[in-house]
Amino acid sequence: MTAAVAERSEHYAVVERAEPRKPRRNEPCRSELRLGEVLSAMSFALDITEGQPCGHSARSCLIAMHIAEKLHLPAAERSALFYAVLLKDAGCSSNAAKMAYLFGADDRKIKHDLKSINWSKAIEGFRFMRQNVSPESSRLERFLKMAAMLLHGPGGAKKLVLTRCERGAEIADELGFPAATAQAIRDLDEHFDGQGQPRGLRGEEISLAGRIAGLAQTFEVFYSKLGLTTALEMTLARSGSWFDPQLVCVLHRLATEEEFRSELARRDADVAVAAYEPHEVPRFADDGLLDRVAEAFAHVVDAKSPWTFKHSRGVADLAVGMGRAVGFGADRLRRLRRTALLHDVGKLGVSNLVLDKPGKLTVEEYTAVKKHPDFSERILLRVPAFADMAEIAGAHHERLDGQGYYRGICSDTLPLEARILMVADVFEALTAARPYRAGMPPEKVLEFLERDAGASVCPTSLNLLKRHLSRKDFTSRVEHQLEALDLLAQDLAAPVCLAC
Ligand SMILES: [Fe+2]
Ligand SMILES: [Fe+2]
Repeated sequence: MTAAVAERSEHYAVVERAEPRKPRRNEPCRSELRLGEVLSAMSFALDITEGQPCGHSARSCLIAMHIAEKLHLPAAERSALFYAVLLKDAGCSSNAAKMAYLFGADDRKIKHDLKSINWSKAIEGFRFMRQNVSPESSRLERFLKMAAMLLHGPGGAKKLVLTRCERGAEIADELGFPAATAQAIRDLDEHFDGQGQPRGLRGEEISLAGRIAGLAQTFEVFYSKLGLTTALEMTLARSGSWFDPQLVCVLHRLATEEEFRSELARRDADVAVAAYEPHEVPRFADDGLLDRVAEAFAHVVDAKSPWTFKHSRGVADLAVGMGRAVGFGADRLRRLRRTALLHDVGKLGVSNLVLDKPGKLTVEEYTAVKKHPDFSERILLRVPAFADMAEIAGAHHERLDGQGYYRGICSDTLPLEARILMVADVFEALTAARPYRAGMPPEKVLEFLERDAGASVCPTSLNLLKRHLSRKDFTSRVEHQLEALDLLAQDLAAPVCLAC
């Protein structure tokens, strides 16, 4: 990645640092945390995966909820729509590696730019490919890559979108949302004229929530990038093809209202949208549900690359084992597990060109990687229930001697949880394979860590790891990585998907 690419890619991963949020009192029954507050903040993680500005999903949700109110949808339907739009991109990390391989370009840029073109028009799709395939390769390499992409048939494209939609819908199911939420996610890229993906549904075959979500997300992309007038013009131009004409009319009526316009312009879309969570169908983020949110987002992170597949879960299992070895109580263990599950959430803001590079990183690429703990910290700071985990997650690459990142602080001043997480993370990562090396045997990794104990590695945490491993067998995730790589290879034999 050149310096120019590194500079440009900054745009795709800007997470503003926020103060920890306090619970608000704008609705009845405010004594408990609402799930909408958690998901609207966590949706920033999905935005950076998609190369969209932070707040894209939350603002899309705001638009969708205004449309739903104009249509006087019942509370249950508004509720299903609300969570569907916040989670609409939950399946998108699963195709990030494919996009990077297929285009030979930053997956976040490809995903970002694809949202701005009318990919159902062949000429626009071809022009996009010509401009974006392997931008830093020779003309011959670019030609060969484009030819390979064009030779594949539409069946594979459908499969790729289907996989992505199904993954997002599965996550909605795992979190216990109604079937209507999962269906809206499945229908997100269907078009009113039947030319969308993955099923080519037409008109009212597409769920109403899916039609609203599709309109809201595309309108938001154009609004944020090009302003209200252009966004409205786009919806008119695609009325009847991409979008339900009746919904376009509703949106245009809304656009004349000052309240709608001023809410669209708010920078804190994640805060604004929480007030639209239908309180007639309350969903409170109790401990069990927060655990599932952390597990779900760990899946999203780990799905970004076959090389990181199941990494977060593995780190969480090790960290909890180490916490048990030192005698942590149930609450402390729960918090440690959530932190470990989400420690790499900031990796969603790093290009797969870098994460999956089969060689030594350049200085610019390493600089990009070193930002991910900061992104993790910034994202978690925005989530009311996770803000107290942010500092520990942000410190998972620090070292005792101050030679770590992103702050470069001497980490012996950090809480034990942070030092446990550092050791668990290194052990898990070294026993797994990377694009440029095989996984190391656990005993070799322990020897390696032992050499640095007291210098860069926390000796207390290393002893806890050894105690844990003496009680419980450890199996590296190399086999799972190979399965994920095999799936990627199969998908790469399918054509490019311009709807992804
Ligand atoms: Fe990390
Ligand atoms: Fe990690």
